[in-house]
Amino acid sequence: NKVVLAYSGGLDTSVIVPWLRENYGCDVVCFTADVGQGIKELEGLEAKAKASGASQLVVKDLKEEFVKDFIFPCLRAGAVYERKYLLGTSMARPVIAKAMVDVAREVGADAVSHGCTGKGNDQVRFELTFFALNPELSVVAPWREWEIRGREDAIEYAKKHNVPVPVTKKSIYSRDRNLWHLSHEGDILEDPANEPKKDMYMMTVDPEDAPDKPEYVEIGIVSGIPVSVNGKELSPASLLAKLNEIGGRHGIGRVDMVENRLVGMKSRGVYETPGGTILFTAVQELESLTIDREGFQEKDRLALKYAELVYAGRWFDPLRQSMDAFMAEITKTTTGTVTVKLYKGSATVAERQSPYSLYRQDISSFESGQIYDQADAAGFIRLYGLPMRVRAMLEKGL
Ligand code: ARG
Ligand code: SIN
Repeated sequence: NKVVLAYSGGLDTSVIVPWLRENYGCDVVCFTADVGQGIKELEGLEAKAKASGASQLVVKDLKEEFVKDFIFPCLRAGAVYERKYLLGTSMARPVIAKAMVDVAREVGADAVSHGCTGKGNDQVRFELTFFALNPELSVVAPWREWEIRGREDAIEYAKKHNVPVPVTKKSIYSRDRNLWHLSHEGDILEDPANEPKKDMYMMTVDPEDAPDKPEYVEIGIVSGIPVSVNGKELSPASLLAKLNEIGGRHGIGRVDMVENRLVGMKSRGVYETPGGTILFTAVQELESLTIDREGFQEKDRLALKYAELVYAGRWFDPLRQSMDAFMAEITKTTTGTVTVKLYKGSATVAERQSPYSLYRQDISSFESGQIYDQADAAGFIRLYGLPMRVRAMLEKGL
């Protein structure tokens, strides 16, 4: 039998390889997904995986698929978890797990394995995706089974099994990076009373050190999906990479929060989502022109649920998929351009335009009005307020 392991080349996943062989007697196929985490030395990775005892390493570039089919739908939906989290890690797990299911089929594996701890959300996201896409696969989660408790144990296990200990210095933070974001957890962040250290951040400069001159960036959007930056059409992944670079130098998209994990505990995390934050501002501003009042309100309500499902690993739940159909329909005319002004950590709207704009200056203007007759307002208010008048009459005995 054969197992496909989600492999990063770090200490933990390097130790999982011999552990799987020892405890399950199986052939281990390592799988590394490129979701824009910035993998260094891909060739070195294969030798490393084999030195750990893997029979092969499979690498897949998922960047375009990740942005187009996972990130952009969440952006269009306006999905934000607990008011702040733009779901960077939550969206990456299903695209990686989906690729693992494909690889399992390609190499004839009957099991899949991951290096998530038993305390977090990621294990749930991986495993729900495995269940949804191939319920026949067995799942092995070493962190929930083995005796290894920390870094020292892991190094000892590696040495005992003649596995080279990765030389990369382990950061004190638990980090997860992809094209959308970078998350930081652990170490001093575990106390919510500690301010993050200035040198922790990696995708964004400190807003205090950002340029004193604002920068304007124009985002082109078609049906709720970004397609261009400053008039230049770009593929989903390159568009996001471009905005990360621009947003990063202005310190855009830092979030520090205490969130509720699916497994019940609270956890403190710090996120950097520079390009994503610019895109959220742009899409929402365009929607203010193209979607009417009740559409807007209903979309926002659904967005809460949508974000909850994504956070909880239920990407392949028919509920989220059905909600996507709603999101696609209601944003059909969310097409146009938005210019966002970036300045010392803030991304604010400067200009918005759409050929489908529902905003009409000839109606809204204080100056004049043909279509809107102010005299109509009197009757409207009387009927609209009728229940209030009836209640007040009752209270006053009228
Ligand atoms: N708390 C965030 C989430 O649940 C980030 C998790 C980061 N994962 C990691 N393996 N470092 O989505
Ligand atoms: C982990 O436990 O593997 C990382 C944190 C999380 O999944 O929430």
